[in-house]
Parts: sequence; structure tokens; C-alpha cells
Amino acid sequence: MTREPPPLVEARGITKRYGPTVALRDAGIAVRTGASHGLVGRNGAGKSTLVAILTGLERPDAGTVAYDGEPAPAPADRAAWDRRVACVHQRSMVIGELTVAENLFLGRRPVTSRGLPVSWRRLRREARALLDTWGVPVPENALARVLSVEDAKMVEIARALSRGTRFIILDEPTAQLDGRAAARLFGHMRRLQDAGVRACVISPVGSACGVRGHLPAVAGGACDRKAPERPRGGATWALRQRGERACQASHARPGI
Ligand SMILES: Nc1ncnc2c1ncn2[C@@H]1O[C@H](COP(=O)(O)OP(=O)(O)OP(=O)(O)O)[C@@H](O)[C@H]1O
Ligand SMILES: [Mg+2]
Repeated sequence: MTREPPPLVEARGITKRYGPTVALRDAGIAVRTGASHGLVGRNGAGKSTLVAILTGLERPDAGTVAYDGEPAPAPADRAAWDRRVACVHQRSMVIGELTVAENLFLGRRPVTSRGLPVSWRRLRREARALLDTWGVPVPENALARVLSVEDAKMVEIARALSRGTRFIILDEPTAQLDGRAAARLFGHMRRLQDAGVRACVISPVGSACGVRGHLPAVAGGACDRKAPERPRGGATWALRQRGERACQASHARPGI
């Protein structure tokens, strides 16, 4: 009998307080290799807090986070976190006044074998190769500010993938997109998933999220704050606020 591999990421029993506010109480999520997930919740349910914990930007007061069955990296080891997970935030993290190529290698311009920064020409070439690898149809020498919102997100995703991770959290990716642009972004994500990239899409309750098609279907398995012992692939997880009974995760429209 083959044993199931450990989840790509698993958070258990996460509690996080900010002063008197309990942002998360005994929350959990498990993302399995081979599945993409949705995470829904009302305003203030703790979605962004959970993302901050899953990406190592915040430490929980209680609970554990494991990647591939191993304890998460030390908080200061940013390179190790970047290899495991990246979050594309609602607010764009590309710098409009820089080119796409500069944005892709922000803070880590490649060096030659002699330790010198590579030429701009080579940087652009490497950027083009990266964009082609991940199917991002934008010119590498364009200023980022001329990009559409969805193209800018694709550049951010390519940047994250170039740092090694194959797990991307998208925080409310469709918030500033019309239907067509959202469809383009989700089409891009579907192609990335075919190439082995996993996503967790954060959405407010009732809006687009989740996975479908040839990808693992949304289980509609709204759960409470705890990860079930054996979570199914492709689930949509719902963070409920205290006292909130109805959970609409199973009604979320499919996205990716
Ligand atoms: N740095 C902080 N300091 C104090 N309180 C915070 C902080 N971050 C989050 N909170 C509180 O924790 C709770 C959860 O917030 P969080 O931002 O994680 O929710 P959310 O589900 O992402 O909400 P939204 O849909 O509005 O983005 C809220 O009550 C919020 O006010
Ligand atoms: Mg939030």
C-alpha cells in the first residue's frame, strides 16, 4: 500500500491574537499536493491573518505550520519561505516605474561567474526566458505601470515561481478585475496548474473562488476552523467568525 504524501502545507490549531482581538481561534487548513484550494470568509474572518502565518510574516500564538510534513522555516529565513510559498496580494507589488525585467529580478539581480551584476541585456534575456517559461505574454522591457492588472499579477506570479515555490496564494485576485480579465487570469492559473503549480485562492464569502474542470473539483467541503484529519483534495475552506452559523463556501462560484 502506498502511503499518501504529507500535505504541501498544513496548519493546525492556529490561534492569533492582536491585543484583545482574536483574529484566529484554532484554525486550520491543509493543501494537498495535486490540489488547489479556495479559502473564503467574511470581512474580518481572519483570511489575511492566516495568509500572513502561512507565508511566515506573522507567528501564531498557538498552533503549527508544516510544509511537506516538515516544520515551517525559521521566521528570519526568508529565502526558505520564498521557496515554499508566495502570496500575490490584492495590492500590486510590482513597481510601476521599473521595467518588467527589473521587477522580475527585484533585489536579486543575477551575477556573472565573476560575481559582477549581469548586463542589462542579459537581464532582459533572462526575463524573457522566465516569462516564456510561465506563459506571460508581456514585453520584458515595458514599464510595469502600463500593464493591465491581470498582467501585473502574472508577472508577480512568475517572479514568485522563479524563486522556487510552486505554491501561490492569491488574495482576492479578482477584486479589481472585470469578468474578462478575471477569466484571463484564471485561464493562466489553469495552465500553471497543469505545469504543477498549486494555488490557494482567497475570496470574500459568495464571490469567485475555487477550482474546477480537469483540476480537482471544489469539494464544497466548507469546514469549520479545523482541518479534518484527512482533508480531500481541492477543498474550499471557510473561516467562520464566532457565532456565524451559515457558511456559503459551497455556493462559491468556480474560478480556476
Ligand atoms: N495588525 C493587526 N492589529 C490589530 N488587529 C488586527 C491586525 N490584523 C488583523 N487584525 C484583526 O484581526 C481580525 C481578522 O483580520 P483579517 O485582516 O485577517 O481578516 P480578513 O478575513 O482578511 O478580512 P478582510 O476580508 O476584510 O480582508 C480583524 O478583526 C482585524 O481587525
Ligand atoms: Mg484580508
